[in-house]
Amino acid sequence: MTRAVCPGSYDPATNGHLDIIGRAAKLFDEVVVAVLINKNKKTLFSVEERTEMLREVTAQWPNVRVDSWHGLLVDYCLENDIQAIVKGLRAVSDYDYELQMAQMNHQLTGVETLFMPTNPVYSFLASSLVKDVATYGGDVSTLLPPSILARLTQRLAERR
Ligand code: PNS
Repeated sequence: MTRAVCPGSYDPATNGHLDIIGRAAKLFDEVVVAVLINKNKKTLFSVEERTEMLREVTAQWPNVRVDSWHGLLVDYCLENDIQAIVKGLRAVSDYDYELQMAQMNHQLTGVETLFMPTNPVYSFLASSLVKDVATYGGDVSTLLPPSILARLTQRLAERR
């Protein structure tokens, strides 16, 4: 069985993330969307909220499951018999850091990283930008699945 992981912070997941997950789901028998917990990173949504949102929006793909992990991604891959890490590349600016992580992960355990070019429609898209625009009342409705947009709108209203 071929199994890949799409790791990330997903705070929150965007249409760009979903595009990569859906395309990966066509290539592998199983895709695990792993919400990586970084205690040093302040997030708008808790890890439980992020995994719940992801479960809702990935329910359309029967071979996709969602999980969370605190620790090294390579350890998650070893524990879950995952052969490949799938990452979206938006622009050349992503490449340097992603290459560094891919090479480090390969050095640690031999796990492969596959880069998938993002759909050009989403090449500018980042969770941090979406949160920033939405905080100041900008329209992000085309950038997020409706259920996540609703959660984001609610969370920002609670914070006001
Ligand atoms: O969505 P993000 O924040 O760009 O995702 C980055 C993430 C979570 C995939 C990356 O930081 C990661 O893999 N973190 C897990 C900890 C780890 O393995 N660090 C060493 C990377 S070489």
